[in-house]
Amino acid sequence: MNASAFSRPLGELVRERRSCRSFAAVAPEPRLLAALEAFAAGVAAPFGGRPRFGVIDNEKVRAESFFSAGSYGMIKGARFYLAALVRRSEPRRWEDAGFAMEAAVLKATDLGLGSCWIGGVFDRRRFGRSLGIQADEQLPAVIAVGLPAGQRTLRDRLVRWSAGGDRRKPSSALFFAGGWDAVLSADGAGSWSEALECLRLAPSASNKQPWRLVRLGSAFHFFLSRDKGYSAMMPLADLQRIDMGIAMCHFELAALELGLMGGWSAADPRVPATPANYEYIASFEIQ
Ligand SMILES: Cc1cc2nc3c(=O)[nH]c(=O)nc-3n(C[C@H](O)[C@H](O)[C@H](O)COP(=O)(O)O)c2cc1C
Repeated sequence: MNASAFSRPLGELVRERRSCRSFAAVAPEPRLLAALEAFAAGVAAPFGGRPRFGVIDNEKVRAESFFSAGSYGMIKGARFYLAALVRRSEPRRWEDAGFAMEAAVLKATDLGLGSCWIGGVFDRRRFGRSLGIQADEQLPAVIAVGLPAGQRTLRDRLVRWSAGGDRRKPSSALFFAGGWDAVLSADGAGSWSEALECLRLAPSASNKQPWRLVRLGSAFHFFLSRDKGYSAMMPLADLQRIDMGIAMCHFELAALELGLMGGWSAADPRVPATPANYEYIASFEIQ
């Protein structure tokens, strides 16, 4: 994937995207779906995993009631679901899936499509079966995709309000420098401030925004502030590590577009006084 993968500036797509839970009754043109699938299949995820993408038509989902009544989200009128399957044997499968699927979400935005991540309550077995899931594969999440309805349903507005979808933590709660005591200043962020802002605006499961970054010298180290209770509630996929992949996606794509070079590594910098619930995920080494 390169900076020209999108027809509009990434920052514009990041700011425009929001979870869409009210879709139009009209199906998007097949060419849009084909473009999205082709794009998703070509995304290079940071840890080298290649999630296997598939599409499931909404008619099948509805006919076979893949969603239990009252499931979180309550999507209305979605036209299809983009799903990614990952291999159990790949240790960084959740981050890679988050990265690749979020790149597809941004591409959907670019194509004028609405989208919503679904990682919570849905019938993973049925979705998996219709994608021909293998014994060594897992289904991290699916993305509902369609043409956004002219008007959002009341349910859509309620779900968004209860998840606090419009709110984001301030950068002072997320980005640090030299250690966990000092907030990353505007000077410290320098030319990276837009990449950090694109990360800050990213979607996350239940809008928990679990990413914490500390800049040490020429690297940004990514940590996950784990909500243990939440993770225990969702045992079938590590949604919070998916969130980390999403953050890495926004950060890397924004940096790439700005011509800022770097690459991912995974050597824990052992930052002193790291809170017990913080898990080291990866580092972006500036070149
Ligand atoms: C991994 C993941 C799983 C999610 N699962 C669901 C879900 O099951 N149902 C739902 O309605 N929204 C789901 N969301 C959407 C989030 O609630 C939403 O991204 C967040 O509240 C921020 O709002 P925004 O996307 O409109 O900016 C999920 C998001 C992510 C990243």
